Amino acid sequence: MAGNRAVAYKGPGKVEVIDIDYPTFELKDGPGVNPANVGRKVPHGAILKTVATNICGSDQHMVRGRTTAPSDLVLGHEITGEVVEVGPGVEFIKVGDLVSVPFNISCGRCRNCKERKTGICLNVNPDRPGSAYGYVDMGGWVGGQAEYVLVPYADWNLLKFPDRDQALEKILDLAMLSDIFPTGFHGAVTAGVGVGSTVYIAGAGPVGLAAATGAMLLGAAAVIVGDMNADRLAQARSFGCETVDLTKGEPADQIEQILGVPEVDCAVDAVGFEAKGHGSHAGEEAPATVLNSLMDITAAGGALGIPGLYVTGDPGGIDAAAQKGSLSLSLGTGWAKSLSFTTGQCPVMKYNRSLMMAILGDKAHIAKNVNAKAIGIDDAPRGYAEFDAGAATKYVLNPNGYLDNL
Ligand SMILES: NC(=O)c1ccc[n+]([C@@H]2O[C@H](COP(=O)([O-])OP(=O)(O)OC[C@H]3O[C@@H](n4cnc5c(N)ncnc54)[C@H](O)[C@@H]3O)[C@@H](O)[C@H]2O)c1
Ligand SMILES: [Zn+2]
Ligand SMILES: [Zn+2]
Repeated sequence: MAGNRAVAYKGPGKVEVIDIDYPTFELKDGPGVNPANVGRKVPHGAILKTVATNICGSDQHMVRGRTTAPSDLVLGHEITGEVVEVGPGVEFIKVGDLVSVPFNISCGRCRNCKERKTGICLNVNPDRPGSAYGYVDMGGWVGGQAEYVLVPYADWNLLKFPDRDQALEKILDLAMLSDIFPTGFHGAVTAGVGVGSTVYIAGAGPVGLAAATGAMLLGAAAVIVGDMNADRLAQARSFGCETVDLTKGEPADQIEQILGVPEVDCAVDAVGFEAKGHGSHAGEEAPATVLNSLMDITAAGGALGIPGLYVTGDPGGIDAAAQKGSLSLSLGTGWAKSLSFTTGQCPVMKYNRSLMMAILGDKAHIAKNVNAKAIGIDDAPRGYAEFDAGAATKYVLNPNGYLDNL
């Protein structure tokens, strides 16, 4: 039987490539596995040989020690793979299929799944609604930054690419369907972006750049991205975004210089709870900054899409309230302006097929926009470190050589 090498969290600031078991059609005990999930049978699952598996800002929250993730947790929720085995309950997915895996694990059977709210499936995580591979408090499904990974409810979860050769040609783009492209697009959709909208996106990381790509696909008139990282802002300009340098102060003034008014129709938070302050506070953590500034600059009646992650427990929070996920929000501003808010995991399955068709039809160049780069699995520690230092790069691990010739 094949072995399995995987990227594991080893305590704050540290990841390592370790040997783990090759998956079977059962969820075994291990770091972060909820006791109620131990021994869970997965006859509806498929085992994938990993084609591409990306490092995400969400992983960084764990790796920075900003969650309660246990040491040895195997990381990785952004998975693209080739099916190498299917369980006896799998009817339609076949060995040899090339597939994208939505990072949300969902059952396809519960009330929320039936309403396409796959980010809050009720049946896969005994802790709370919603689940993901390789993530703290998400039930303990083993992460996919590995050579092989088990995907439950395979017929439901997997998105099959229609043609293998065509898929391998665009594989770096298609690798973004497991999370950031749908997530950024969802941020734009839930911010109400449509033809002619003006949009501000906080955060020029991969999710912010994916939201910008999504806003352009949806027909926005102006897409403005704010960050304090000059390289990431240059990356945003490389595909037609306007940018706001938040080391210079609050976004409103710079937005006014671009649009003639200090407000936008739609706003997206692609930063989350590790947000930094603006202007003279640029180096300091200020977890409510993004949400408060988005409420300020969004026109009355507008909407905030909030894919940026907020947590219920943060050991590194700036004060006792933040350590419990409680932030100092100016909700009165939002209320007075009748703003709408959409939070939570992106229900990837709602968008991944249409975004796949946009990629295959050459209408979306997400890999170029986020500067996706393939690296070997042994380079994962370097990828994590460079990404954490703010590289304008989306790192894609290549554990089985499928990406060697890109
Ligand atoms: N909802 C979902 O389903 C989902 C899915 C994927 C990622 N996420 C979350 O989205 C967020 C972004 O992910 P990413 O991979 O792009 O992360 P990232 O860490 O690479 O990017 C975050 C960016 O925000 C910038 N930033 C910090 N403070 C800011 C501020 N006040 N204003 C503007 N920019 C600021 C940082 O400089 C950085 O470039 C993370 O919180 C991640 O967990 C959510
Ligand atoms: Zn992710
Ligand atoms: Zn469900």
